[in-house]
Amino acid sequence: MILKDKVAVVTGAARGIGREIALLLAQHGARVVVNDYGGSEAGSGGEKKPADEVVAEIAQAGGQAVPNYDSVASMAGGKSIVDTAVKTWGRIDVVVNNAGILRDRMIFNMSEEEWDAVIDTHLKGSFAVTRAAAPLMREQKWGRIINMTSTSGLVGNVGQANYAAAKLGIVGLMRVTALDMARYNVTANCISPFAWTRMIGTIPTGTEAQQARVEKIKKMSPAHIAPLAAYLASDDAKEISGQVFGVRGKEIMLFGHHRPLMRIHHADGWTVERLAEIFPGTLHQHLIPLETSGQYFNYDPLV
Ligand SMILES: NC(=O)c1ccc[n+]([C@@H]2O[C@H](COP(=O)([O-])OP(=O)(O)OC[C@H]3O[C@@H](n4cnc5c(N)ncnc54)[C@H](O)[C@@H]3O)[C@@H](O)[C@H]2O)c1
Repeated sequence: MILKDKVAVVTGAARGIGREIALLLAQHGARVVVNDYGGSEAGSGGEKKPADEVVAEIAQAGGQAVPNYDSVASMAGGKSIVDTAVKTWGRIDVVVNNAGILRDRMIFNMSEEEWDAVIDTHLKGSFAVTRAAAPLMREQKWGRIINMTSTSGLVGNVGQANYAAAKLGIVGLMRVTALDMARYNVTANCISPFAWTRMIGTIPTGTEAQQARVEKIKKMSPAHIAPLAAYLASDDAKEISGQVFGVRGKEIMLFGHHRPLMRIHHADGWTVERLAEIFPGTLHQHLIPLETSGQYFNYDPLV
């Protein structure tokens, strides 16, 4: 029972990856707030049933859980989700920012509404819940924050400018949260999952490359993601903070971070002419290929 006595919030926990994480945290002794606004893939509507079903499943397995139906996408929602934990069990130890939607569109067609909906759910939503929990974690000098990022942002993906911006924004949010909270024994990390869920079912499959990518993802279960989340939530993971992990079937990976790959310097400073002369034989040799997540992760997953 590595999470005995811990109180956790999992957002977007009615389906997919969030549901698996909520079930496993509860199985390891955590008391869990199952948050989900019960929306459609595109982010509309609001039903209580999906969250209630996960709460019932946890109770049936002998665990403890309560539902919360707020949207993460506002400060009031974030506060209400954390308040549910505090009102029910008097504390909040673990936050898993997992709720998410997709509104894919090429950058030249993307609407303001599509941009805002995705940024609000992922990036603002992760901030809203973290912001509500951080003062309490600081006070009790213990906390674990786990955010979901994506290789759509870390590597790139066609037609997902809003989602990629949100998911890389979440990495920045996580890094600075980890720095701000380090002295209070609170860690923050990101998981970049690969799993077949309803959300992935919305990825367009118009081209052969898109179809091939989706076929690979279909083999990967959201259950593969949960053990890493439970481990990061535990006491054992107290020295792991500010990191980005990937889970792809039975493979777990640690991602690198943005650091200079190569430096050039000129004693007289740079002019355009000097750059045109020196760039091709120096920095150009180290440019990162412009590729999609599916092109980079092109090998069959171990499942
Ligand atoms: N499945 C993948 O391969 C994959 C890849 C990269 C990242 N992710 C990330 O993992 C997380 C989970 O995705 P999933 O694939 O399990 O998707 P999913 O659609 O199966 O589950 C997402 C859940 O979030 C809920 N939700 C959406 N907006 C919400 C809001 N505003 N407030 C509360 N709940 C909300 C939905 O109702 C749904 O139950 C997301 O952050 C997603 O971006 C998934």
